[in-house]
Amino acid sequence: PFAPDEAAGIVAGLKDLEGPLLPILHAIQARFGHVPEAAIRLVAAELNLSRAEVHGTMSFYHDFRAEPAGRRVVKVCRAEACQARGGAAVEAALAASLGLPVGETSPDGRVSLEAVYCLGLCAIGPNALVDGRPVARLDPAKAARLAAEALS
Ligand code: FES
Repeated sequence: PFAPDEAAGIVAGLKDLEGPLLPILHAIQARFGHVPEAAIRLVAAELNLSRAEVHGTMSFYHDFRAEPAGRRVVKVCRAEACQARGGAAVEAALAASLGLPVGETSPDGRVSLEAVYCLGLCAIGPNALVDGRPVARLDPAKAARLAAEALS
């Protein structure tokens, strides 16, 4: 669980860096698994930024999450080469089978569906990561099987 005192300690330790916002957000996410709204308020106050600025940075870099991840995390590649190989249909199949749009976690906390932007495996795309493990040459049917497996 999020511990405000510990988060305050992380901020205090990093706020004098040049460009402290990203290192602080990374450290908070590494410690707590996500960057909750309370952390955003704290960081904004300590760095003299608006909450909108902190939110903006978080959404610009796709690595940050505002909610805890599901127990399984499926990440689908949205970058160009995978798109050219049918990535959009794979993403649609994953979303339909998981019952989740990209960027969301199922209400029971079982699974998150997220986007990634190139895994360096472009030649064997469309690709996804399941709990950090790459799955290549996806098509909608394979994506649906993958989703079923992630939910099992
Ligand atoms: Fe998907 Fe490179 S574009 S792995």
